[in-house]
Amino acid sequence: MANTCKQDKGNIGIETHNQLIWPFANAPADFYALRGMMKKAIVIGASSGIGRELSKILFRNQYAVGIMARRIDLLLELRNEMSNDVLAEKIDVSETDSAKEILTNFIKKMDGVDLLVICAGTGHLNEELDWTLENETIITNVTGFAAIANVAVKHFIKNGSGHLVGISSIAALRGGRESPAYNASKAFESNYLEGLRQKVVKLGLPITITDIKPGFVKTAMAQGDGIFWAADADKAAKKIFNAIKRRKSSAYITRRWRLVAWLIKLLPGFVYERL
Ligand SMILES: NC(=O)c1ccc[n+]([C@@H]2O[C@H](COP(=O)([O-])OP(=O)(O)OC[C@H]3O[C@@H](n4cnc5c(N)ncnc54)[C@H](OP(=O)(O)O)[C@@H]3O)[C@@H](O)[C@H]2O)c1
Repeated sequence: MANTCKQDKGNIGIETHNQLIWPFANAPADFYALRGMMKKAIVIGASSGIGRELSKILFRNQYAVGIMARRIDLLLELRNEMSNDVLAEKIDVSETDSAKEILTNFIKKMDGVDLLVICAGTGHLNEELDWTLENETIITNVTGFAAIANVAVKHFIKNGSGHLVGISSIAALRGGRESPAYNASKAFESNYLEGLRQKVVKLGLPITITDIKPGFVKTAMAQGDGIFWAADADKAAKKIFNAIKRRKSSAYITRRWRLVAWLIKLLPGFVYERL
């Protein structure tokens, strides 16, 4: 049965449904019909941290999921935790030309996408202002982010609907001496998403653009001594999923970070620069 399905549905990359869980485990005959009705989501930066947890939540909520990042071994591990139906593909968003092409082909492989989440991002504590680190951050979080968002939004405009989610940061709100490129790159992401939102609203299309601004989340990315109110990655992912379901324009993760955001924005420059 699995082999037959593979031949019949090779175009959507299904290899087997052996590992399928509810609601399909006992209803293989209906699977492909139902799969056509499932919402499709791609998570870029799914190999660890927030993206990994969010991918699992989307899968549990009956999305057909595609996962992307550079560390393909981790993606395959994650796929094993979910199902062989999950498509996994290597992408390096900092290689913008090839990344755009890889994503475009991946969307075709998935026969379209309804929700695309950009979790891919990098950042370093960079007291020495090492240019290699600053540059890597800018190429990944600015050029890479914009390239991916560009492919996604054009796909949604062509299709007439869709949902793009970017994970910026509370760091987007002000500059940061420990990693100037990181804060600036997150400000770019937030601003870029706002521009795209204004564009799709003007077009009158039912396309949602969500800017997620986490505070601290316990992942490899959260570095340094001054970490507080750090949420577990799975908790952060649950909150992000809620924001996705509610089609919010922006959300602080967790909600208490709204208070920090309010304070940060309020501080006059001459106070902020001395912190
Ligand atoms: N953790 C926090 O406290 C925090 C707070 C605010 C915002 N954020 C943001 O949340 C997002 C997710 O980070 P995280 O906390 O979950 O950290 P993480 O575990 O380090 O995840 C980062 C993800 O980005 C992917 N990635 C990095 N560079 C990439 C590239 N060039 N091409 C493709 N994928 C790339 C990584 O995969 P590969 O290495 O396998 O490619 C990984 O899956 C980031 O944008 C981060 O800035 C995090």
